[in-house]
Amino acid sequence: LRVLAEQLRSQGREFYIGAAIPSNFSSSDQAIVKREFDIVTCENDMKIGTISPNQGQYNYSGGDSLVNFARANNMLVHGHAFVWHKYNPWWVDGTKTMMENYINAVGTHFKGEIYVWDVVNEAFHKDGTYRINAIGTNGQDGASVFGQRQGKKYIEDAFIAARKVDPNAKLIYNDYDLETRPAKFEGVYEMVKDFKARNIPIDGVGFQMHLGPNFTKADADRFAEQMQRLADLGVESYVTEMDVGCPDSTQNGLNKQAEIFGWITKACLEQPYCRALQVWGIRDSQSWRINPESPEDRAIAPLIFNDSGAKKPAYYAIQAAM
Ligand code: XIL
Repeated sequence: LRVLAEQLRSQGREFYIGAAIPSNFSSSDQAIVKREFDIVTCENDMKIGTISPNQGQYNYSGGDSLVNFARANNMLVHGHAFVWHKYNPWWVDGTKTMMENYINAVGTHFKGEIYVWDVVNEAFHKDGTYRINAIGTNGQDGASVFGQRQGKKYIEDAFIAARKVDPNAKLIYNDYDLETRPAKFEGVYEMVKDFKARNIPIDGVGFQMHLGPNFTKADADRFAEQMQRLADLGVESYVTEMDVGCPDSTQNGLNKQAEIFGWITKACLEQPYCRALQVWGIRDSQSWRINPESPEDRAIAPLIFNDSGAKKPAYYAIQAAM
């Protein structure tokens, strides 16, 4: 896949193919990544819980080793993520001072090494309202401590701080279910439109793309339209965390998954403002969506390499679409 992305770029199409890298990055994983990808993201190592489990302490070892790996192998790094409502350590109080200090420290450390930063992750509820108060009963609809303390203005302040600290990095807003929940996309779209109108620095939107087998061709077409509306604002799109659950572990199940990967890849490549397609992990066995003890989970097999690192139909579907 990497060779195909390089060919596209040599023809003037700025497009990268990538993956999230787990913390226990084995040498056989490294071989796959070197061969197949040219943009890498830390699955967890650039999150605040890993970098700064205690106030004022910074642990950059995982992030630095990914940056070094990327540099040694001529790859870009996608930074993930400055501000999120989940998995925050105890000291995160959601204030503007805390948020800006964190962005300044981490942005300074990685300055010049990051092609694109996820500045704010998952700030919207599924109905397109801001995550300021919790709605619903499950954790997915939780509030953001940043929203609770600062209102929605924390989002623009985070982008302003990120631009200031690393002016050459692209800055994106990243979220899930945008392509399947039109109301959620509209909320994000209105925010982006308002940011552009007021010169708040934002370069793109990340579509996480954690999908399942019920994702339809109509959903993929909607995604293409959404990217076009963003492009009309001068805003890029990224597929940041793609994985697609299989309906079952049969060949048909794998083919269904492959079809969905193919639709999304094609939509990305048809959209000149789509900059990257990244999968969230390398082998099925490592996917965050799988509890290795659960046979039902194992059947989901959401990634493009199987447990032993062999290419799946999904891999070939991406290849065919490139
Ligand atoms: C997940 C990681 O894959 C897990 O290892 C971790 O335990 C929790 O976070 N959306 C995101 C990612 O933006 O950061 C999440 O990653 C998956 C959903």
